Amino acid sequence: MKTDAASGLAQKVQTKLSGHGQPMTIVVEPSVEAVAAHVHDALVEHLQRTPRTVLGLPTGGTPIPVYARLVESYRAGRCSFKHATTFNLDEYIGLGAEHPASYAAYMRENLFDHVDCSVGQYHILDGLAEDVEAECAAYENAMAASGGLELVLLGIGQNAHIGFNEPGSDFHARTRAVDLAPSTVAANARYFREGQQPPTKALSMGIGTILEARRIIVMATGSSKAKAVRRMMTEAPSRDVPASALQFATDVTIVLDPAAAAEL
Ligand code: GLP
Repeated sequence: MKTDAASGLAQKVQTKLSGHGQPMTIVVEPSVEAVAAHVHDALVEHLQRTPRTVLGLPTGGTPIPVYARLVESYRAGRCSFKHATTFNLDEYIGLGAEHPASYAAYMRENLFDHVDCSVGQYHILDGLAEDVEAECAAYENAMAASGGLELVLLGIGQNAHIGFNEPGSDFHARTRAVDLAPSTVAANARYFREGQQPPTKALSMGIGTILEARRIIVMATGSSKAKAVRRMMTEAPSRDVPASALQFATDVTIVLDPAAAAEL
């Protein structure tokens, strides 16, 4: 993808690639911070336009600067979650909401404790649920009862997983228990303290669940995501590349920094 060498900065590039479904909009921002700013602005605009929205939210390192900016905007009175409902994409099996490496703890720490989104409004799968099937079915029902996912924000794994839908995942899959790929366990080991064994199983919204969202924004930064980004957008959709399912989604915007866009 072309960048503006003259300015010394990668220029913002916006293009549309025709996927198998609707066109995918690709935005290349000059830096990680600019990616976060772009995604933040899109979310704030969405919350302002549709306060009663239903959001799908990711974890991982990539969205942390987006959440930090949302907290700032909330404090400045520029956005509110008061009427929003949120559903997180996934949670580790075996970690309770109080475990510091759980996604529930991550969400409280990075967003929910700092904005007007309270218990009851946000939903996170219970990693300690005894009846996993019932937990997943209840999650799907809660999403449907809230009117369905309107906007889902996604990160992407180095092996092109979305949520915790690893290679091999069915594009029609709903929320369920999944085995994590060894490479995913290794990549996420950095979020666990020394001596803590990272979980090898998780609960995740399915690709089928995600594809029902009316709008999807994918963010990826850094060279470790370049291959996954290329495969997501340019390969024929296949189970080997879970994110390639997004070529079937109705409204997808992919926001990248130059390093993540390097193989396009
Ligand atoms: C985890 C999450 C994904 C996330 C991915 C990338 O596996 N389940 O939702 O997109 O990590 O994380 P990072 O942003 O830290 O690279």
